[in-house]
Amino acid sequence: MLTAVFVGGTSGIGRAIAQSFARHTKGNSNIIIVGRNKSAADELISSFPKPPLDSPKVLHEFVPCDVSLISNVHKTTSELSQNLQQIDYLVLSSGVFIFTSRNETSEGIDDKMALSYYSRWTFIHDLMPLLRKSDQGAKVYSILASGANAPIDRDNMDLKKEHTLSKMLAALTTYTNVAFQKFARDEPNMSFNHAFPGFVRSPMLIPSKWYWRIPYYLVFPVFSFMSVTPEVAGDIHFKALLEAPAGFNSYDPKGRPMQYTPADDETVELVCNHTIEMTERFREQ
Ligand SMILES: NC(=O)c1ccc[n+]([C@@H]2O[C@H](COP(=O)([O-])OP(=O)(O)OC[C@H]3O[C@@H](n4cnc5c(N)ncnc54)[C@H](OP(=O)(O)O)[C@@H]3O)[C@@H](O)[C@H]2O)c1
Repeated sequence: MLTAVFVGGTSGIGRAIAQSFARHTKGNSNIIIVGRNKSAADELISSFPKPPLDSPKVLHEFVPCDVSLISNVHKTTSELSQNLQQIDYLVLSSGVFIFTSRNETSEGIDDKMALSYYSRWTFIHDLMPLLRKSDQGAKVYSILASGANAPIDRDNMDLKKEHTLSKMLAALTTYTNVAFQKFARDEPNMSFNHAFPGFVRSPMLIPSKWYWRIPYYLVFPVFSFMSVTPEVAGDIHFKALLEAPAGFNSYDPKGRPMQYTPADDETVELVCNHTIEMTERFREQ
């Protein structure tokens, strides 16, 4: 039986992909939703089709985890490794509104970088033994900001010295591409995918402060013309996920493959060593 894990599956694009997956498998698959919002996860899980009574027992489960802390991610991956037999699909879409200034977690990492990159690396890295057990070649899909690689600021890789929006977007895009390029090289049967969803009218883009909601609803007619619903984005990226070949693939908002120029070996080593240093120190011995 197929097993899929959705980190960030309680809302928006991740939630919509989880729903597409549940419909596609008619509920006859193990589906694990990782996030913080239990009521949203319960509501999502209750919407999944129920498998026939005579089918083997399926696991439709919420696993609570604040993934902005890498120590939490290590604990969650350790629990998943004890409870699951294999993982066939790992979809990563946790994130918060990106256009805000640096905000360090108690581990000293910017929360946006932790959610969008370092935690996702940790899920893939720690769950690799389960991904290797997939009969069909496991597929990993990260919803973020695919595109061309930018030059790497070697002395400021965690952006502690200087953190600007453009530096962060360049780092998140490049680190994800390069890390996925490396994972794909090491695991030739698996598929590692990085997608940019474009403008999606998910809860992330609705301002939390009431005074920002007024301009939001004023520009909404234009915004809705330029954007898609999470359900539309979910269908697009679920199809891309299903059809993704082995290797590293990059996708645009319509789920079309994008050209990618691979990084050189030195850059791959630089990014991977930096990421291991940033994430392994939070593993409990
Ligand atoms: N929407 C867009 O237009 C757009 C454009 C470009 C890129 N993206 C990227 O696409 C991805 C998905 O965005 P979306 O639009 O689907 O956003 P969304 O609807 O706000 O969903 C974000 C998800 O992240 C999870 N999350 C946030 N903080 C978390 C934490 N500390 N611990 C665990 N989970 C956490 C949330 O779960 P809980 O609330 O349960 O914690 C939620 O499931 C993000 O990486 C975003 O940057 C989106």
